[in-house]
Amino acid sequence: MYKYFTNPVDIAKRIMTNYVKEGDIVLDCTVGNGNDTIHLAKLVGDSGKVYGFDIQSIALKLTREKLEKENLLNRVFFIHDSHENIDNYISEKLSLIVYNLGYLPGGDKSIKTNPITTIKSLKKAIKLLKSNGLLLITCYTGHSGGKEEKEKVKAYLGALDQKYANVLEFNFINQKNNPPVLYGVEKF
Ligand SMILES: C[S@@+](CC[C@H](N)C(=O)[O-])C[C@H]1O[C@@H](n2cnc3c(N)ncnc32)[C@H](O)[C@@H]1O
Repeated sequence: MYKYFTNPVDIAKRIMTNYVKEGDIVLDCTVGNGNDTIHLAKLVGDSGKVYGFDIQSIALKLTREKLEKENLLNRVFFIHDSHENIDNYISEKLSLIVYNLGYLPGGDKSIKTNPITTIKSLKKAIKLLKSNGLLLITCYTGHSGGKEEKEKVKAYLGALDQKYANVLEFNFINQKNNPPVLYGVEKF
């Protein structure tokens, strides 16, 4: 049983746990089933704020219900729109931004993130990060279009000037069956 190198989703979660402080303002660009949104809502506390985007109302509805049960809804602001439109809703600086690409697990697999809107969104998101803010993006390569999206994300992030941001790739290189890949960006 693996203990430390589990999977990119868990590594992203641990980075969030270590980095996000009470009172922080953070953004989940792909709310889905709400795992990251709920985790972030706990970390930012009563004085913080979590913005959450999803294009599927069912994802926002189910996550809202989960947050209500845990008494965490007061700090979460849902936006039912594509994350490429972040700048229509958010102008304040953010401590952390998280993406979990692909389709809603247990939902309609044809509704998924796509490289064009993901890159548009990433460009806007990085501008909103505060100095030393973090952006985490988990890419899945097993579904149709997933590999292409990951390559586009990698190409975009890999071309960022190192004076502007540091970019890491967390990638299991000995696993079969297309393991997800996590990119981490720290903006200066
Ligand atoms: C892999 S799921 C996210 C899982 C989520 N982080 C969790 O903890 O359950 C991807 C989500 O992205 C959403 N999505 C797809 N395209 C989007 C877009 N352009 N803008 C915002 N959300 C999008 C899907 O509806 C889906 O719910």
